[in-house]
Amino acid sequence: HDQIREGRLSGERNDQIAGYLSSMDADRKIAHADLLVDMAHLAMLVRQNLIGEEQAGMIARSLLKMKRNGIPQEAFDERFEDIHAGIEGELIAEAGIEAGGRLHMARSRNDEVATCLRVRSRQDLLKILDSLSMLRKVLITIAEEHTRTVMPGFTHLQHAQPTTLAHHLLAYEEAFSRDAERLSDAYRRVNRSPLGSAAFASTGFPIDRYMTADLLGFDDILGNSMDAVSARDFALEILAALTVMMTNVSRFCEELILWSSAFVRFVELDDTYCSTSSIMPQKKNPDCAEIMRGHAGSVAGAFQAVVVSVKGLPMSYNRDLQTLTPHLWRGIDDAAVSIDLLAGMIETAAFNTERMREESDRGFSTATELADTLVRDFGLPFRTAHNIVGRAVRSGEITLATLEEAGREMGGISLIERGLSGERISQALDPDMVVAAKEIPGGPAPGVIKEAILRRREALIES
Ligand code: ARG
Repeated sequence: HDQIREGRLSGERNDQIAGYLSSMDADRKIAHADLLVDMAHLAMLVRQNLIGEEQAGMIARSLLKMKRNGIPQEAFDERFEDIHAGIEGELIAEAGIEAGGRLHMARSRNDEVATCLRVRSRQDLLKILDSLSMLRKVLITIAEEHTRTVMPGFTHLQHAQPTTLAHHLLAYEEAFSRDAERLSDAYRRVNRSPLGSAAFASTGFPIDRYMTADLLGFDDILGNSMDAVSARDFALEILAALTVMMTNVSRFCEELILWSSAFVRFVELDDTYCSTSSIMPQKKNPDCAEIMRGHAGSVAGAFQAVVVSVKGLPMSYNRDLQTLTPHLWRGIDDAAVSIDLLAGMIETAAFNTERMREESDRGFSTATELADTLVRDFGLPFRTAHNIVGRAVRSGEITLATLEEAGREMGGISLIERGLSGERISQALDPDMVVAAKEIPGGPAPGVIKEAILRRREALIES
């Protein structure tokens, strides 16, 4: 049972109130972290001569037993306000009050939970960073095979200019690399220890905060004990970075969903990532991509929930802080599984390069290059060339005749007199030529993309 209440308060709490107050559900994610925090705190108490060796030994044995065999179910009972109380209860039951009752000296659940949240978030962040690297590797590897796979590029979802599949995939890779930067940056601030701040005012016992920080793998301690127990900006930073990351995941999924449609057929996702219909036997639906797109919403919602939870809280610890923890876990878990599955979904996808080529010059999408050719080789101002080609398109086809006609309308310009030929036109309108012309850094020309791939591989290794 919960011994914390016994001194000050009277009366058994009914299950409804106990369940209402308990954070046990969300605390499952920090149960293991709590054991680690207990061990670090215990080791520090021993070294500072704040606890006898024999009693410390008894506590250590119980903690190790829980670490080895798992924390017993009783410790997760909702009659405990949280896992910290649950594990202390278990400790006292195992090691007796003389030993087990000593572990909580010089600390509070306030610094304990803040430390556990950081230990666990840190672990989850590393996993997400790992998945991001995996995803980027997959994108770069597929891009490598498709430096000459011509496809249409879109603006306003209208065929705009041809590009390549490599160019398209590397666009996402670069976005995901910034997501990794943001998460790594957040990690640096997550990785500071609140432990030893106790309730908020620190403690009169001569503890060593640097020792526990070190044992738990933190880079540093949080300087101010009041800030340390009450700060949740680390959670905001994580969720903000994940929200941004999930917008990139969601955009990618949106395209994969669109590309899977029979209208487009640029990709076929592997069956394992798809579902079928309970009524329409022919259906193959891109459900994983849709769930990921949906999770982008729930992660953004989690971020929003934490913002609203903390914005009005006075110093220092307030119990409201407990209510934001489930949002943190929800955001992290949804983002983590999404980013993990996305790599596999891309890796196993079959890209339909024929369909891409077929669409690459649809909707006069090579017209820009023709206008550029009129500027480059025939001396026209760009606006004039833009107008001439636009008029030809409006007539329904781009031919020597329609261009000549458009030129005449534009103040008597004869393109034929300037040397334009049908052959020169079809050259300019050829998607491969259009792509090959884009040799500027960041562009899709195969040579440029191959260099970009080398640089992206280096960036990935360095990250
Ligand atoms: N379970 C709480 C949390 O998640 C920590 C307990 C602090 N309780 C308290 N009454 N000060 O924030």
